[in-house]
Amino acid sequence: MIIKSITLTNFRNHSSFRLECNKDTTLILGSNGWGKTSILEAIYILTRGKSFRATDPDIVKTGTPFYRIELEYDNGEVSAATYDGKTKTFQILDKKSRRLPKKNKYPVILFLPSDLNLISGSPSRHREYFDRIFSELSDTYATNLSKYEKALHQRNELLKSDYVSDSSLFSWNLLLARYGSSLSHLRSEFTSLINKKLNPIYYSIAENTDTITLNYLTETAGLTESTYLKFLETNQKRDIYISHTSFGIHRDNFEFIFNGKPADGSASRGETRSIILALKFVESDIVEEKLREKPIILLDDVFSELDQTRRKALINNFKDHQVIITSVENISY
Ligand SMILES: Nc1ncnc2c1ncn2[C@@H]1O[C@H](COP(=O)(O)OP(=O)(O)O)[C@@H](O)[C@H]1O
Ligand SMILES: [Mg+2]
Repeated sequence: MIIKSITLTNFRNHSSFRLECNKDTTLILGSNGWGKTSILEAIYILTRGKSFRATDPDIVKTGTPFYRIELEYDNGEVSAATYDGKTKTFQILDKKSRRLPKKNKYPVILFLPSDLNLISGSPSRHREYFDRIFSELSDTYATNLSKYEKALHQRNELLKSDYVSDSSLFSWNLLLARYGSSLSHLRSEFTSLINKKLNPIYYSIAENTDTITLNYLTETAGLTESTYLKFLETNQKRDIYISHTSFGIHRDNFEFIFNGKPADGSASRGETRSIILALKFVESDIVEEKLREKPIILLDDVFSELDQTRRKALINNFKDHQVIITSVENISY
């Protein structure tokens, strides 16, 4: 799908703004604070259903009662979202809904400057990153993750309360085991998919024989629903004592291994950038294969962080996609 235009009303610092997009590359130039990332954020909301960085109360322009965004595709389809200070409503033709319907979601590859620090990030940052990608690849993943997070929150609340008992925890254990074991399997499946492509793509950027692997680190590897449940129960006494859930996929991590060593601490700044670029290309390939649709590429201010060779690699790799780029200065590649 190709985006034709995006229109913003009271969205962040934009009172009224419209961008016509090209079918290949669109460059959004503006100084810091001009509202560039906000435009990508609006596109993301209307393609994926929610922002990548905030919730609606932060997004609606300060001092105004609502925001509205509208996205027009090249086939004439129009998606809109309105937030009235309380609820957000998506509208496609005359159909209204609280969530963006699945059939109106489109794949997007988002590249943020902060992604360049992914390798040295915390486990929670790693999970957040891969959760976003895996949710795009699989609706089951997205649904189960949201159910897992709700159940985990409830179980932790109960662990903190005075009413906690083995029997009161049981129903939450069942839910955590069901969704947790499913997510664990999908995480290892998607990690293998990434690994199949990561090295060849890395070579094409770095043109050397370094090796790169993504490791999925978990205590839940290969567990069935019932063995997962047993682990929860074994840890239950301790969980009650420490008032939170100590076992499960919410404690997983992802680690990049570069030439046999953790990339964090061993890969240079340039190598780190090549690894992240390779990861983005892999994401795009996998999304395209799985969903049979070319993702839209949103590049937020990443050109200034890349040298000439890597800029070229980025442009080359995405030359057949619609790419929307923000930048503070005019870019050369
Ligand atoms: N809800 C809001 N209402 C008004 N202004 C906002 C709101 N949220 C953010 N801003 C301002 O909007 C500006 C644009 O943000 P951003 O899109 O991140 O800019 P850029 O990416 O061009 O640097 C920032 O100056 C920010 O302070
Ligand atoms: Mg920005």
